[in-house]
This record gives sequence, structure tokens and C-alpha cells, in this order.
Amino acid sequence: MKKKNSLIYKCSACGHEEPKWLGRCPECREWNTLTETALKNEGSNSLGQRKAKTGSDLPKPLPLSTVDPMEGSRIGTGIGELDRVLGGGIMKRSAVLVGGEPGIGKSTLLLQLAAAAQTKGRILYVSGEESPGQIKLRADRLGLSANKSVMDRIEILCSAQLEEIEYNLNNIKPVLVMIDSAQTLFSPDAGAVAGTVNQMKFCSLELINWTKEHDASLFITAHVTKEGVIAGPKTLEHMVDTVLYFEQNDADFRFLRGAKNRFGSVDEIGIFTMGEHGLSPVDDTGRLFLVRREPSNAPPGVAIAAVLEGTRTILVEIQALCIPAKGSISRVFSDKIDSGRVSRISAVLEKHLGLRLSDHDLYVNVAGGIRITEVGVELALACALYSARTGLALPEDLAIAGEVSLTGEIRPVRRLAGRVKTAVNLGFNGFLGPAEKEVKGLIPVNDIKMVISKIFGNVKK
Ligand code: TYD
Ligand code: MG
Repeated sequence: MKKKNSLIYKCSACGHEEPKWLGRCPECREWNTLTETALKNEGSNSLGQRKAKTGSDLPKPLPLSTVDPMEGSRIGTGIGELDRVLGGGIMKRSAVLVGGEPGIGKSTLLLQLAAAAQTKGRILYVSGEESPGQIKLRADRLGLSANKSVMDRIEILCSAQLEEIEYNLNNIKPVLVMIDSAQTLFSPDAGAVAGTVNQMKFCSLELINWTKEHDASLFITAHVTKEGVIAGPKTLEHMVDTVLYFEQNDADFRFLRGAKNRFGSVDEIGIFTMGEHGLSPVDDTGRLFLVRREPSNAPPGVAIAAVLEGTRTILVEIQALCIPAKGSISRVFSDKIDSGRVSRISAVLEKHLGLRLSDHDLYVNVAGGIRITEVGVELALACALYSARTGLALPEDLAIAGEVSLTGEIRPVRRLAGRVKTAVNLGFNGFLGPAEKEVKGLIPVNDIKMVISKIFGNVKK
């Protein structure tokens, strides 16, 4: 009979191990992926039997005072929007995963990065998907070919086999390694068939380890399916330091969003457009999501929110539509702002202003198709819903920020002064927000009733 602890349950999706069987993997949240697996080296790990390793090549602890802070220094990417999402450049010894749907621009970003990175070291660009000729064509298109020193320093290796890549890494000792893509990597040592999750995980981990041991940095791309999951579920996310996702909106902007960042904030987004010559950063993002209309022509149901995306303020148009509910239950249709938030704000309006919304279907959208999760959007959302329900349009040169509490009070938000400053610079004449001292140009409001009286004065519904 097998010993009780000789079995473990291993997730086939992410490799997570559990001592007991579970219906859902606690690590990657996949269902029915835990399978019974025999524990390797049975017995050698049992208590009392472990022997401490000995040997001179084992790592030894260092006094913190002797640690060289330069080990953590960064390399500028030469692409401002990418630096922003990374938290100020590429951290040495870090591994960055760039995920996104096919065609979004992952390979283009990596090639542009290889050309612009502020390092004198060597750069190895490994592609398992394209031929050297195809990569050269892309470089021509990006206008890189004219610069001989750039073309010389990017070394192309078209291979997906781990051993071939490692051989070249050891020969070249690059400071920057691009791997395009994780899904194509394979190694005979990883067993089974190329393209499986295990292959990808094994090879990626080897390459990540190589970069950490050799003071290099690694960028590795991964295809994401339409549903937004990295094919080969989430496994790589745990192994890298930073995870960036490339997304696209209806207006063709490409957003680079951090989903995990050991060396910076995940609030920052990078915004690009894809043009004839590759990806260009969008610097002036303040007005990007505003709808251009003829002056004094804003319809009811529209309010302008000044929200934070990372450290930047962007102004976005929140659009609301209310129509009498078709069924006995009213519904909320909102995918750019969490629909729970929309329901909560409409409940506050109903309770504190007596505005009947519960028998209406509510539709909410954000112009430009950007998802807004920042709490400061709530007051503008409340104004848009009020305006949609009453048919009264808001002044179009009014920007709004604030959190709405269940009691109808307007709560403070982060960086209010910065939001007001951005809005004023963009030509807004009024800014409605929570009362805060020393914020010039602010129309302070304490609660939702005061908001309505400030905006609409004594106008009757
Ligand atoms: P690509 O980087 O190959 O995407 P991914 O690696 O994520 O699959 O590029 C995607 C698309 O971008 C492709 O359809 C061609 C287009 N593109 C341009 O419009 N302009 C350019 O300068 C380049 C290089 C590509
Ligand atoms: Mg590609």
C-alpha cells in the first residue's frame, strides 16, 4: 500500500500542488484541473530525514549594508509610455510578460523596444514565429533600417528550441532578451509534445532563470485568446515580475496595462496608436476620450468625469440612457463601468433626491470605450443618470470628480487639485467636486442635493 503522503494533487493548468483534492485550483481558479500525482523522491523529504546541503557554491547571506543598490538599476526603454507602465524603465534581472490578442502589436513593440532601449549592451531578439526576412521587413517598416548602429546591435535568432536559445545566450551574453513567443518554445527535456502548457512553463522558467543569473532582462510575449486568458492558463504570470496586457478599444487606441508589477504601480496605462510606422505613444491623453461636438450642444445624459489613470488625469464622457423597464424587473446595462456601481449610484439618487429610477432600464457607456474603475467617476455618473432621467443637459464646460457615499454625501478623491488643473488647462470653465481647502477653481459640494442645486439652480424638473 502507498504511504498516505506519497500522493499530491497537481493542477494541470498551472502546476500548483495541493495535499488534498479540490474541485477548483486555488491558484489559477480553473475547475477540475487537480489530478492525482505521485510525489517524487518519496520519503526523502519526510521530517527528521532531511539532511542539510553542504558545499561552497551554495548561496550565503549578506549583511544588508554590503548590498550593491546598483543591482536594482533600470534601463530606459526609450519609449515614454512603456517606461510609465514599467514604473520608470526596465529593471535589471527582471522578466516582463507581454500578453495580448494576435495582431495587437506585441512583436512590433518588442522590436521597437530593441531599437530604442537605452543600453550599450547586446540585444537578442528570439522569434519562434517569424523568419529573419519577415523581421527585417518589419524593421524596414518601422524605419529602423536607416540606422546602422541600431540594426547592428539587434541580433536575431529564429528558433524556438530552448537548448538552441540557451547556447546563443551563453555565447552572446545579451543585456536584453526578447522572446516571441512563449507558446512556441519547446525542449525535449520538458517531455510530451511541443505547445503544451508544461513545455511553455519549463522553457520560460529556464530563460527567466538565465536572465536573472546573468544580470539581463527578459521580455516574453504570450498570445491571449478572445476571452482574455493567456493560452496556457495564467501559468506564466506567477513566474515573471511584471505582466503587461495589450488591449484595443473601438477607436483603435492600444492600451498597455500592468496586471502585475513587482517594481511599480499597476495603475499606470500606456496609450499608443498603430500607424504606418509602428506604434506611436499618445502623449496628450487629457482630451482623448472626449466627444467633439458643436459648441453648446451637449445632449442630456452626458457628464464629463475627470478620472485618474495611474498618475494622469483623463477627461472622459459618461453617457447614460434611462427608459421605462420593459419587464417587471429593471436592468442595468453597463460594461465600461461596473454595473454594481451604476445600481448603487441610482439607488442613492432615488433615495436622496426622490428620482425614480428603479422602474427604468439603465444604459451606461463611456465614450472612447475605455474601462473606468476609479472611484472618482461616481459623481459624474450620478450627474449623467440624473440628466438622462430628467432630460436636463449639463453645462458642457463642466468637469466633475467625486465619490458618492450611500448617505448621499460627496467624499474626497485622490489628487483633486491635479484633476482640476488638468481640466482647466483643457479649457473647462467649471469643476465640481468634494469640498477641499486650497483647490483653486473648484465648485465645492457636500452632498448630492447640493450638486443638483449648483448645476441646475432652481430649474424645475
Ligand atoms: P504584430 O506586432 O505582428 O502583432 P502581434 O505580435 O501582437 O501578433 O502587429 C500587428 C499588426 O500591426 C499587423 O496587423 C500589422 C500592423 N502594423 C501596422 O499597422 N503598422 C506597422 O508599422 C507594423 C509594424 C504593423
Ligand atoms: Mg507577433
